[in-house]
Amino acid sequence: MEDRFDGKVTRTAPGEAPMQDRPPQEEPARQYYFIEKCRQHVLEESRRLGHPLTASVVTFGCQMNARDSEKLSGILERAGYALTDSEEADFVIYNTCTVRDNANQRVYGRLGFVHSMKKKNPHKRVALCGCMMQEPSVIEKIKTSYRFVNLIFGTHNIFKFAELLCAMYENDRMVIDIWKDTDQIVEELPVSRKYPFKSGINIMFGCDNFCSYCIVPYVRGRERSRRPEDILREIRTLAAQGVVEIMLLGQNVNSYGRHLERPISFAQLLREAEQIDGIERIRFMTSHPKDLSDELIEVMASSDKICRHLHLPLQSGSTRILQAMNRRYTKEQYLALAEKIRSRIPDISLTTDIIVGFPGETEADVEETIDVVRKVRFDNAFTFLYSRRTGTPAATMEDQVPREDAQAGFDRLLSCVQETAREQVARLSGQTQAALVEEVNDRDPSLLTGRLSNNIIVHFPGSPSLIGRIVNVELLENRGFYFVGRMAP
Ligand code: 5AD
Ligand code: SF4
Repeated sequence: MEDRFDGKVTRTAPGEAPMQDRPPQEEPARQYYFIEKCRQHVLEESRRLGHPLTASVVTFGCQMNARDSEKLSGILERAGYALTDSEEADFVIYNTCTVRDNANQRVYGRLGFVHSMKKKNPHKRVALCGCMMQEPSVIEKIKTSYRFVNLIFGTHNIFKFAELLCAMYENDRMVIDIWKDTDQIVEELPVSRKYPFKSGINIMFGCDNFCSYCIVPYVRGRERSRRPEDILREIRTLAAQGVVEIMLLGQNVNSYGRHLERPISFAQLLREAEQIDGIERIRFMTSHPKDLSDELIEVMASSDKICRHLHLPLQSGSTRILQAMNRRYTKEQYLALAEKIRSRIPDISLTTDIIVGFPGETEADVEETIDVVRKVRFDNAFTFLYSRRTGTPAATMEDQVPREDAQAGFDRLLSCVQETAREQVARLSGQTQAALVEEVNDRDPSLLTGRLSNNIIVHFPGSPSLIGRIVNVELLENRGFYFVGRMAP
């Protein structure tokens, strides 16, 4: 991709003298120009300090953020940094999440910790990016209480990271660049993937749903889809590099393609992605129940590559609360949808997200949610205590639920979720299933960790040389949410 770099000498207009060092206007050439410039800064600083410069990207939050961090890492690597997992690094960047307040608090905790390290190593640089930075109150707090931070940017201009990195090297003061929104999508920037054999792929950005509790539409902006040809080209490139499993990412993948010049449905995109040789497994995340089409169910049912897993956030089982959440489906519609999916794809695993303690929620509402969990028999559910996010409609609703009441409902729900999940997972006991081997087990190095098509984890003895391969595993022992097994002969 180096060939995209336009060179440092560009002409302005015929007859004018060439201007030294002028960055190109068009993307991604502009960013490749700044990557080269960063390389010089990194080289100079590492000479000055007498060691190769290290960088660490610390990620909070969802799969989208994990993918963004791979893009940041790709640029850091190209700029000459050695990547490390340690926050002792010369440059640390925190990719933040703000979906619930505890994510914010964790970031402030890390900042306190990194400040003490910076006192010992004054050359250390610190950057912040991601969803939390799109909130003006956060920026104010950092400007007053965390003045040692060198660089801050948001979710809309992450593609400009190389340019911002240069600005950081060329300024002594805190560099802050936050955009309110964008419709720009920049393709073909470098990426450094965490796993060689599997990869996330953004298919769309932002969200237009405005669920009343959720801050995402405010911090990630309006929904915009990448063009299918760009997505498919990226998948082909990944397949050529040895990737066997892809995860298509968007806040609401079921509305993919609606606003494109030539509209296309998510199901159609999946059909095309399936044709690509080398790709053995396709996952996607997240589906909104209101937009899940029969066409998608059919494509999944007839596919060998699309994984037997659907993450379908319920949020609440009470129609009254769902309405206040602006989810645009009822309890009965959700149940009917889950039933339709289970009858068409019997081996599917259904997982969900549930919020407890939304304003106005009563014990009876929580019982409705528990009723849905029992009826749908989720294979797993992520349960969250409602977190009040400033700027969302729910934050100013009356009847905010006291913390103790929410916690009591949460505990009741959690025990029901655990019970149904254990039963669901148990039905696989004794079966032999294909698992993609992901890593050596971090507690017991004689074991490998693999992932089944339905997203369930299995640990089994085997050689690390199998990492990245799909192998058949007998599921011997159910340990709640995961299995212990052995490779099938
Ligand atoms: N409080 C608690 N949970 C929330 N989520 C989103 N916003 C909030 C909030 N304000 C949960 C939803 C969503 C998941 C990613 O996070 O369940 O599906
Ligand atoms: Fe938030 Fe709802 Fe959009 Fe999901 S669909 S990101 S919960 S607003």
